[in-house]
Amino acid sequence: MDIRKEYLEFFKSKGHDVISSMPLVPDDPSLMFTNAGMVQFKDIFTGAVPKPANPTATSCQLCIRAGGKHNDLENVGYTARHHTLFEMLGNFSFGDYFKEDAIAYAWEFITVNLALPVDKLWVTVHDSDDEAFNIWTKYIDSSRIIRFGDKDNFWSMGDTGACGPCSEIFYDQGDEHFNTPEDKMGGDGDRFLEIWNLVFMQYERTADGKLNPLPKPSIDTGMGLERVIAIKEGVLNNFDSSNFKPIIEKIEELASKKADKSSIGSYRVIADHLRATSFMLSQGILFGNEGRPYVLRRILRRAVRHGYLLGFRKPFMGKLLDTLISILGGHYTELIENRNFIKEQLTLEEDRFFKTIDLGMSLFNEELANTKEVFSGEIAFKLYDTYGFPLDLTEDMLKDKGLKVDLGKFDELMSAQKAMAKAAWKGSGDASNEGDFKQLIEKYGINEFVGYDNVTYKSKILALLDENFKEVKTLEKGSTGWVMLDKTPFYATSGGQNGDIGALEDNKHIAIIEDTSKFHGLNLSKVKIEHSNINQGERVEAVVVNRYEVAKHHSVTHLLQSALKMVLGETVSQAGSLNDASRLRFDFTYPKAMTTEQIDEVEDLVNSMIARGIAGNVEELPIEQAKGKGAIAMFGEKYGDMVRVVSFSDVSVEFCGGTHVKNTADIGSFYIVKESGVSAGVRRIEAVCGAAAIAYTKEIINSMNEIKSEIKNNDVITGIKKLKDQIKDLKKELEAAVSQTSAPISEEVIGDTKVVVAIVENGDLKKIVDDMKNSNEKLAILLLQAKDDKVLIVAGSKNTNIKAGDWIKNIAPIVGGGGGGRPDFAQAGGKDVTKVEDARIAALAYAKENL
Ligand code: ALA
Repeated sequence: MDIRKEYLEFFKSKGHDVISSMPLVPDDPSLMFTNAGMVQFKDIFTGAVPKPANPTATSCQLCIRAGGKHNDLENVGYTARHHTLFEMLGNFSFGDYFKEDAIAYAWEFITVNLALPVDKLWVTVHDSDDEAFNIWTKYIDSSRIIRFGDKDNFWSMGDTGACGPCSEIFYDQGDEHFNTPEDKMGGDGDRFLEIWNLVFMQYERTADGKLNPLPKPSIDTGMGLERVIAIKEGVLNNFDSSNFKPIIEKIEELASKKADKSSIGSYRVIADHLRATSFMLSQGILFGNEGRPYVLRRILRRAVRHGYLLGFRKPFMGKLLDTLISILGGHYTELIENRNFIKEQLTLEEDRFFKTIDLGMSLFNEELANTKEVFSGEIAFKLYDTYGFPLDLTEDMLKDKGLKVDLGKFDELMSAQKAMAKAAWKGSGDASNEGDFKQLIEKYGINEFVGYDNVTYKSKILALLDENFKEVKTLEKGSTGWVMLDKTPFYATSGGQNGDIGALEDNKHIAIIEDTSKFHGLNLSKVKIEHSNINQGERVEAVVVNRYEVAKHHSVTHLLQSALKMVLGETVSQAGSLNDASRLRFDFTYPKAMTTEQIDEVEDLVNSMIARGIAGNVEELPIEQAKGKGAIAMFGEKYGDMVRVVSFSDVSVEFCGGTHVKNTADIGSFYIVKESGVSAGVRRIEAVCGAAAIAYTKEIINSMNEIKSEIKNNDVITGIKKLKDQIKDLKKELEAAVSQTSAPISEEVIGDTKVVVAIVENGDLKKIVDDMKNSNEKLAILLLQAKDDKVLIVAGSKNTNIKAGDWIKNIAPIVGGGGGGRPDFAQAGGKDVTKVEDARIAALAYAKENL
């Protein structure tokens, strides 16, 4: 039985709309990942957005519970039922049916469609919920309806949002297999398996912790697909079901080792983490050091650690992907579409970790040798954080030595890091001002964007907000705030396109629009009042500045993406983009730097697409039809049932909400300014087109002219070559001059010692002394040099009776100076340049006497 299909069809037959799974990254700054089926409906539950025409829906939602309010990461591999990524089947009522029908539907599906034996089923209700208790007594004996408190039977998505008491359905897997003290209802054992949670959405929790009743009580349910599949297949552990078994077998094959009691945990962790990492990558989350990318890294590294335990020393996760695709690719085609990309990214990251895992082991062993009673919390944290060793693993490794980790210190470091991670995605204004935006929506509705067809518009000021998003009647001259127009030509930042700038004008007003953004669906422009107060209710001319140039950069970004795919291959995918009036930045996945030839080829291709003058076309299409046209979707973007598709013939077809040129010829010309790396596996192209391309070429021409005049040659290459030749010649001359002036130096041999006493006009005395020492076995040397009004004396002695220090002390006074030094080397200065020859004669005499 295809349970996923069965479930969706069942609720469809009960009048529910079937809605597709939303992306794993929710459009909600307060939430790490989509952690339940209800996330895409959360604003409908609270009434922030109007409910759909059909107030009932059903979905099969991919969820991640790792790093966030609902976090199962540390349980994976140790229990039979926890996963980082899982599929949640759900049915939803937005103010339509409530407890009575929700329970009736659930019971029918479980006992009829799934045909689970009634005598195996148990349910729980919130201890205050007599209503749910009574409804359940119609279906099941009251001895098997258990009441629990908030911990078990009150559900909320996150710290804020819709929530309510819940009722859970459990399946008893039998005491013949599970009989620990924890194998009881409410215990942590695996015997009683929670399969379905029915949440009676009644409240909205606000940031201050208050529970406010929802406009209409609603229903949110969640059934864990992996658990139900396992039950239906008669296995006691999700990992033994057809969802995971083939992956585990593939790992056994690659490791050439069958799983046994002591190693099975590692096989399971790897199988679980393969799913989570592959789906995250397929939805555009990349490996990184903070936020979601960091969670992805932790999950992957944890899998690799377990692979290491099984004997892997080289990347192996990518080799498991095809097996995962054979299980889930039929339903989640994004795995197939991104197969090569996922494999490549997994392998790159595995490679990186295989490089540090040995270091982590050494660090552990080093610290272990120094540990008497308590293993350092700092090192445990470092192992966890830097080398990817989970705390429980470090604890495990210490267990048989009777040692414990300093958990106090570890927790302290961990909380500090969590706080940092949390702060990293607290959106500006957005989350904390949620209430203000909701009020605006209630009062004025969502304002309309009319900027696809207009760059000026006579708009009415529906609302004015101060800098803190509080509504005001007037914004005074000199102040800044936000303006909400009834119909706005200003595009709000999204899909990489920067928000519009411009002005509000009429004969009285001039206000500068500095930026435009979306807040909970509202299009608001940041405004600076230059001249005369502006008031709510007034009509103004809204003027967008530079839109045409922005459109050129956005359109050429589409052309660039398709050219990159042609030159580098289809696996290239967008990892981020930004475009405004003067530039574009496009990040994409590719493992290595582009060559100059590739960059040229891409640039030429884009310019030829421009030169062909391809007409642009924008259409609203049902999502399936758009996909059928081969439209490129942005990773991780959330799309509704109808999508906007922007195409330039078949050269480029993309899902896009941005503003574009009517014909590629409008773009003018295109230049790649820079190609660089952003992070492992991600490259960045910076480029210009339109007026910015003209400015860019002008700048190059100007500097070229400056160069020409500097080098006094209109042909710069010849000019530079000439300069280089000149430099080469000058160098040669200089070398010749130096060698001439520093030699020859007159020498005498006394006994078997070479004696050199000379006045040297040019050259480095110390160097000459060193060179001579190197080439002579027995040497006494003293050199004099007069420069301007100073005299320099350097003396050296090698294997002779003369001490250079004494020698120089004896001679220096002749030129009015002093100095000394070591027996083998000494130097001194003097002031009287007229006595240099006297000093030379005296020095020679000294040498003859003292040798
Ligand atoms: N949203 C509820 C849960 O995740 C159904 O358990």
